Amino acid sequence: MTAQASPIRSVLAGVGSYLPEIVVTNDELAKTIDTNDAWIRERTGITQRYLAQPHETCAFMATQAARIALDAAGATATDVDAIILATATPDQAFPATALRVQAALGAGGFGFDISAACSGFIYGLSVADAMLRTGQIRGALVIGSEVYSRILNWQDRGTCVLFGDGAGAVFLRAEEASSSGRGILSTHLHAQGSLGDILYVDGAVGQPDRSGHLVMQGREVFRHAVTRLSEAVEEALAANGLPHSAVDWLVPHQANLRIIDAIGRRLGLPPERVVKTVAQHANTSAASIPLALATAIGDGRIRPGHLVLMEALGGGLTWGSALVRM
Ligand code: UT7
Repeated sequence: MTAQASPIRSVLAGVGSYLPEIVVTNDELAKTIDTNDAWIRERTGITQRYLAQPHETCAFMATQAARIALDAAGATATDVDAIILATATPDQAFPATALRVQAALGAGGFGFDISAACSGFIYGLSVADAMLRTGQIRGALVIGSEVYSRILNWQDRGTCVLFGDGAGAVFLRAEEASSSGRGILSTHLHAQGSLGDILYVDGAVGQPDRSGHLVMQGREVFRHAVTRLSEAVEEALAANGLPHSAVDWLVPHQANLRIIDAIGRRLGLPPERVVKTVAQHANTSAASIPLALATAIGDGRIRPGHLVLMEALGGGLTWGSALVRM
């Protein structure tokens, strides 16, 4: 939960993204996996995904996205006081992948990784916002970067067709609250650890007897996603005293078109005001929201002054929202 008394606002000054060079369509997957384009499209809306090559590591993709976000903000590495990187697929157990990015950018300050699965970008925004508003830092990179292709069980058609790789980043700058109202208006975070077994990665570093693969009870996750995300969007608007109609854009976590459409309907938003990239990117976990933001800012849909509502749910379970005036 956030307080909003501070005169400092965290302004989303620039966005960047990176997608791997290789695109794999549903039909291409169906050559080696017992699946088909119709099933994947109908159940998820996914038509293709980007898959990383060996050099496209979590840190590499995060750095590319971060550079673009800094450029878009008119900022440089010297403006970065903190790097907060959300990922379930870090390059190493430690150092934090955020610090590999720090080194690549030549930035100072500090950095750390966040483990909150698909909600990681929202968690990162929330932490950065708190630090910016209290004056602890003046500029922060919040990044989601994922290489899920390396933790997928490519024998499990129920999960391997759903995910893709990529990275997205935002540069947040502390600014005096102004009449434009720009900045993060609120973030709300939630978690329910007792549901940890419906979506998890089997094992960790140093556990060679474990598969290291993602395991998901899809229907259970789906059910919780629709309920929890509906509550989360209501909570965000109620906390700000805003009606549904105030939202210019819903930028949801991109897991499944059916979940995205369900939340859009709950908000009464016309489908054209919901940013959807799941068809092209598939589910890129913590990277999906900044990737979607970068897409809709890049093509001119999201513009300064627009009210953007973001929400995500992922393994943990974790979920949450962020309401931002661009
Ligand atoms: O990002 C984190 C949050 N994650 C999510 O929000 C994901 C939430 N869950 C979902 O999106 C959906 O549950 C899925 C897309 C994962 C699955 O959709 P579903 O409608 O729940 O399908 P299901 O898993 O219940 O499977 C239905 C049928 C099964 O066949 P039978 O048992 O009915 O004969 C599966 O074996 O579809 C079959 N199936 C497939 N068929 C072709 C499962 N995967 C595939 C596949 N291709 N890839």
